[in-house]
Amino acid sequence: MEKKFYVTTPIYYVNAEPHLGHAYTTILADVMRRFHHLMGYETFFVTGTDEHGDKVLQAARDHGMDPKQYVDKVSESFRQLWPRLHCEPDCFIRTTQPSHVKVVQSILQRVYENGDIYFGRYEGLYCTGCERFYTEKELEDGLCPQHRVQPEKRAEENYFFRMSRYQDWLKTHIQENPDFIRPERYRNEALSMLREPLEDLCISRPRARLDWGIPLPFDPNFVTYVWFDALINYVSALGYPDHERFSGLWPYAQHLIAKDILKPHGIYWPTMLKAAGLPPYSSLNVHGYWNVEASKMSKSLGNVVKPLDLVEKYGVDAFRYFLLREMAFGLDASFSEVALVQRLNADLANDLGNLLQRTLSMAARYFDARVPRPHKEESLDAELRLKAQEMLGTYQREMAQLGTHRALMAVWELIGLANRYIDRTEPFRLAKDPSRKERLETVLYHVLEVNRLISLVLWPVMPAASEQMASQLGLPGPGKKGQLLELGKWGLLEPGTCLGSPKALFPRVDMERAGLVQAGGQGAPKEGSRQPEPVAEISLDEFRRVDLRLARVIQAERVKGSEKLLKLVVDMAGQTRVLVAGIASNYSPEEIKGKMVVVVANLKPARIFGEVSQGMLLAAVGEAGPRILTVHGDAPSGTKVS
Ligand code: MSP
Repeated sequence: MEKKFYVTTPIYYVNAEPHLGHAYTTILADVMRRFHHLMGYETFFVTGTDEHGDKVLQAARDHGMDPKQYVDKVSESFRQLWPRLHCEPDCFIRTTQPSHVKVVQSILQRVYENGDIYFGRYEGLYCTGCERFYTEKELEDGLCPQHRVQPEKRAEENYFFRMSRYQDWLKTHIQENPDFIRPERYRNEALSMLREPLEDLCISRPRARLDWGIPLPFDPNFVTYVWFDALINYVSALGYPDHERFSGLWPYAQHLIAKDILKPHGIYWPTMLKAAGLPPYSSLNVHGYWNVEASKMSKSLGNVVKPLDLVEKYGVDAFRYFLLREMAFGLDASFSEVALVQRLNADLANDLGNLLQRTLSMAARYFDARVPRPHKEESLDAELRLKAQEMLGTYQREMAQLGTHRALMAVWELIGLANRYIDRTEPFRLAKDPSRKERLETVLYHVLEVNRLISLVLWPVMPAASEQMASQLGLPGPGKKGQLLELGKWGLLEPGTCLGSPKALFPRVDMERAGLVQAGGQGAPKEGSRQPEPVAEISLDEFRRVDLRLARVIQAERVKGSEKLLKLVVDMAGQTRVLVAGIASNYSPEEIKGKMVVVVANLKPARIFGEVSQGMLLAAVGEAGPRILTVHGDAPSGTKVS
């Protein structure tokens, strides 16, 4: 039987232009679709716009536009955004389209005929931002927890959905199906909502007050409440009730949302489905919120992040990679442009870009740009192969449960190891010795094979970079259905394959030129920011690449022409090295002489003020100027610091 995967995003309100939060959910859905496609699933991906209700009508009025004209315009800006973020939905649904309106009315009629909709009077506290009533208990300091405004008191005669009737059923369903709402914290949150008696849901608005909605089929004096209208998109997009797509895909529905709309999706929607005689969705997947440099993103704070601005500056792949690498599914994350550029420079330009370029340049130089044949496997080769095989397992397991950040971490551990493998096996040395030709062939085969597997697994996250990698590696295009199952195995690279010429995948971004640091600053945050910028996370493996050693200063003098620099000669286990360190403002040559310092010993030598510095001394650099790091107690120079 064919494996199926149906993924949805919330349909977004058209009262504002798309921003980072919308982009994240939609990109995540697209990544999930692509991953399942590689795993051989039949996939279907739906997104769209939610166009009825008070909030949208108000926005149209604020723009001085007729609601229909207004929703057409904003909906179009969402629709046009997705391909530019390399998201490829199969269906873009709008709640104003006639086919959707028809389905909403038919479901309402069905639930009404079953006796689960009744007419009554309701008085409550309503937040227009959320388009829903709140109970006193749900408010925080009397304010709506989402919008921090006081909800208005509303008393109306309206139609109600007998949601309370399905409370026990829903509770049992959530308890018996651990993946129905995930991650667990949101499952628990939904269960705690069900601990209190569930009130019936008011599902209409008098037309005299709000005309911008779908008329109730059994009483045209009322329109449908936005949530009752919007949630139904998930089935109307599949052609419910008659289309075979509905019967084929609905049992596999995976909804993606952020935590803000857990209640409508975790409580209203399953009870609505039950009342309409439809089976529940398969899983509700709830992610956290993107904050911007530790604050909530909001128009009033003026910190709304526009996806296209970033894509134009840094490219769509870097933007997608950053979002998926940075947010741990289910938790909040913090966005900053500096953090994005740090990841772009470190992970993409440096680690990944260098690996591909080094590999292809060696293949061109030593093997006429062809894949060599591997020979006897040595222990370093086996370590790399096993890491690649481990990555394939971790990647598949994590992606299947939306752990994109962990899946990418596993890929980057492999990239790190492959770069170190090249350093350790020293192909340039092997190439000088004709008797080691077979060894060189084996080494190069291994790194080429790692590159092939990386280009394959990166397709869901960075389709364009993955395609470029594949073409440079002389491989067929990635992204074929079932390809990961077929080709995600070690050793399938064919010796003799012609390779392309190396081209930089990700140019480095100069932080200063991009206006992200002050001139002369090494990653220092822009003036005015309230707290230190987060530094991109690194894995333990990456950290271990930094060789930190104790060293004793045996000579010291000032560097001519500089007020800041001292030239130090240090001893490291009997070896001497020259270091140029910017510590002259706090240390005289006499003072520093004899001190034990901590040195980055494997830094590329750099020329500073005409002197070659063979390492870097560590110091705490604050307002009081540099303070060197030293060691407590006795330890010989050359000792490794870890
Ligand atoms: N129209 C309703 C959804 C109806 S679905 C049947 C709605 N629209 S919305 O425009 O407000 O979109 C909310 C969704 O946008 C969130 O659930 C999330 O997917 C995304 N995000 C909006 N802001 C976000 C962040 N700051 N961070 C992460 N995602 C957020 O609610």
